[in-house]
Amino acid sequence: MLTLQEIKQQPIPQHIAVIMDGNGRWAKEHGQQRLAGHQQGAHALREVMEGSIMLGVQYLTVYAFSIENWNRSQDEVLGLMQLFVHTCKEELPTLQKYGVCFHAIGNLSMLDNYCREAIQEVEEKTKHNTTLHFQVAISYGSRWEIVDAAKQIAKDVKDGKIALESIDEQLFSNYLQTKNIPDPDLLIRTSGEYRISNYLLWQIAYSELYFTDCYWPDFTKEKLFLAVENYQNRERRFGKTSEQIK
Ligand code: FPP
Repeated sequence: MLTLQEIKQQPIPQHIAVIMDGNGRWAKEHGQQRLAGHQQGAHALREVMEGSIMLGVQYLTVYAFSIENWNRSQDEVLGLMQLFVHTCKEELPTLQKYGVCFHAIGNLSMLDNYCREAIQEVEEKTKHNTTLHFQVAISYGSRWEIVDAAKQIAKDVKDGKIALESIDEQLFSNYLQTKNIPDPDLLIRTSGEYRISNYLLWQIAYSELYFTDCYWPDFTKEKLFLAVENYQNRERRFGKTSEQIK
């Protein structure tokens, strides 16, 4: 394993996206309720945020709650929402200290008011921070996001705001939740599952994928550094040949 200094001498991913999976299994293995796994997961998230700042990563996007997660038990959904709001409030001073700009993506209209208000407050108070752009995907689903973008584009064409001929990949990207955010260079999924689970489907077209067996609550800065080290050994070709990119 390389040192942080050695890792920093190689290209650092500008944007890391994370599927924080395995909280429930972590809790079960520790003889605890699922919510205890999510609470421990919130600590791991702080670790990864700090690790990202140490590396000089500029964008970090984490999958906190999918649209499909609304189908979980009422207790778990409520517990997760309360944990989310509590963490937002508790971590605000830390976000300010580190210069983290917080932003939520997803179908926020499905959230309760208290949750939306907490998000708005943290977004407003951190909006001028520039060290790390930290996106939390909550009530998020990539297919929903793409359909929603298509609807907005159709409406803007109908209203004469944009011409049909002007629709291209760049324009489409600007209608997604992640507008103004570069595509992820690296996607990390924990817990030994090899799926994308409706996460940033458009945006990860050329991302490097990294899977680890580690449950999310056990994920640490050092494990993040290992993932980045692994990323640095990949050859990103974007459809070209090895010779062409040399
Ligand atoms: C997936 O594990 C994890 C979630 C659905 C929730 C992630 C939430 C946190 C890490 C809490 C903190 C987040 C913020 C933004 C404050 P799972 O429950 O599907 O685990 P399992 O597959 O082992 O059951």
